[in-house]
Amino acid sequence: MGGIFGVLCRDRVGKGVVVEGLKRLIYRGYDGVGIAFFDGEGKIVIRKYPGHLDVALKHIDLVNIPSNIVLGHTRYASRGWPVYENTHPLTDCSGGIAVVGDGVIEEYEEKRRILEKKGHVFKSRTDIEVFAHVFEDYLRENDPLKSIALAARELNGVYAIASLVKGYNKIYIVNHGQSIVVGIRRDGSCVYVSSDIPSLYGFADEAIVLDENSAAEVGLDNVEIIDIYSLSRVTEVTKKRVKYPVEVIDKAGYPHYMLKEIYEIPEALLRTTYTLMEKYLRLASMIVYGAKNVYIIANGTSLHAGLVASYYFADLAGLTVNVVSAAEFPYYVLENISTGTVVIAVSQSGETSDVIRSVKLAKQRGAVIVGVTNVVGSRLTLESNVYLPVGAGPEIAVPATKTFTSTLAALAILAGYTGLYTGVLSEKELESIYSELRSFAKELGKNIERIDYEANSIAEKLVKWNNMYVVSSGINYPIALEAALKLKEAAMMHAEGIQLGELRHGPMVLVEEGYPIIFIKPFEETALELYSRVANEALAKRALVITVSPNNEGFGSIVRTVGYVSRFIAPIASIIPLQLIAYRIGYKRKLPIDTPPSLAKAITT
Ligand code: F6R
Repeated sequence: MGGIFGVLCRDRVGKGVVVEGLKRLIYRGYDGVGIAFFDGEGKIVIRKYPGHLDVALKHIDLVNIPSNIVLGHTRYASRGWPVYENTHPLTDCSGGIAVVGDGVIEEYEEKRRILEKKGHVFKSRTDIEVFAHVFEDYLRENDPLKSIALAARELNGVYAIASLVKGYNKIYIVNHGQSIVVGIRRDGSCVYVSSDIPSLYGFADEAIVLDENSAAEVGLDNVEIIDIYSLSRVTEVTKKRVKYPVEVIDKAGYPHYMLKEIYEIPEALLRTTYTLMEKYLRLASMIVYGAKNVYIIANGTSLHAGLVASYYFADLAGLTVNVVSAAEFPYYVLENISTGTVVIAVSQSGETSDVIRSVKLAKQRGAVIVGVTNVVGSRLTLESNVYLPVGAGPEIAVPATKTFTSTLAALAILAGYTGLYTGVLSEKELESIYSELRSFAKELGKNIERIDYEANSIAEKLVKWNNMYVVSSGINYPIALEAALKLKEAAMMHAEGIQLGELRHGPMVLVEEGYPIIFIKPFEETALELYSRVANEALAKRALVITVSPNNEGFGSIVRTVGYVSRFIAPIASIIPLQLIAYRIGYKRKLPIDTPPSLAKAITT
């Protein structure tokens, strides 16, 4: 992933324009920043730094650009470590093409091997560099627009590319499933390309939204768009006015990062399915398969993901794994760790001190570490024997949302691969994990506004309460725990996650008229009878009963999730309305949702 921002002007590009554009796109990644432009002789010059834009500005000049054209990028590392070589822009062999990319190119290692056999020389470990070399090959016999289209046609994946080509005073872009727009200024002085429309505020008046599978040659007087398959000209284009007020630009029009990140869940889930690489999944699952005993360690939301994963490993691989809080692990579990133990350490940030400490202690006792994290280059990736990047994209709000759902997807896929070795799953069944995740993500994209609307009306009913229960059973039980955590963080309300049957063993004493209880309808048929008994008991006490359900069936007020077939999707589907309910209560209470008091995104001490 990453943020793309480019500009082409009649005169020299204004000071700081690219920095401002990249600042607005920083939410898309901050593992590296770079620019490419033409010098006085028409040669491509690259300036880049493997770190956050604020730090990069101290090391390289991104402000004074002696050119009328510049292409910038801010990187989220998902393929390739956050080091200089992997920072965009990336070039072809001749240095005549500079590319920046957003997204993932599939099977790039295989493609790279073929290109190397043909004599191409690679300088980075990224997937996007492959694009530069395929582009280079096509450019020998075609013009740049046709070449970028043909390269995109050849390379599978979900990505957007922007590039400069020596000898052409234009920017070439392609949308291969990832958004990219062209910003037009009414006075014709400059034209822009960007990953999103809000970043164009104050620069462009309107934006041309490039359709999927189209490529464009962006010039000062003309934007020519073609379809990458038919290569014919696209004449009908979608244009949008650039109208976001400056203060909400970095949140792309959303009032809070938390809401923005919930709305990004469909895209993040898709990206996770493309980011995880088969060879590392096979390696990690072989390690898990060969283990004497397996522990999942994590904290907070990641711990809840770990709890769900214990169901995944049981269902998809027939394995029992132990899930332990990384804060408890050193005190109670360490004695059981020896050579042959595998520790799956889950951490969004990869920096949580409890996780890192436990990982180090487990390694000292001979354990092998499989890291699952959203941050490549984090301490967890350094300490792991093998790590799986979740690829959800940067998450800024302290309450974790899209990284939770993507971590669940990654753990389901890991369990699925392990199932191949244990003989529980066939290759075809593994394939259907991917296809179900992808079609769920698409369906969710179509439904998220409707879910938010329903969540908002539930939030209206809950806003005056300060205590509530979230109740479920089976694979959705950890989701009750996670929902309660979100309600604490975002809505600052005390909520407790309870197992369905346990509600009758004490907690019911607090239930009075109007007391809110959210039931997450169990996926397991066998638990439905208990759900109906307990919900009726709560209704008899005049509790305010709400049910999160994949259909319209359930007790009390219903929030409908996206329907699903398989058990492994149930927790992913169920948490989304609950995240939105927590957010909407926090919003109504005017709370600092993105930065709850006394809570940091990563607890590193
Ligand atoms: C959840 C949250 C925390 C984190 C926990 C672990 O919204 O803010 O509970 O989940 O601190 O963090 P990571 O996953 O980065 O190790």
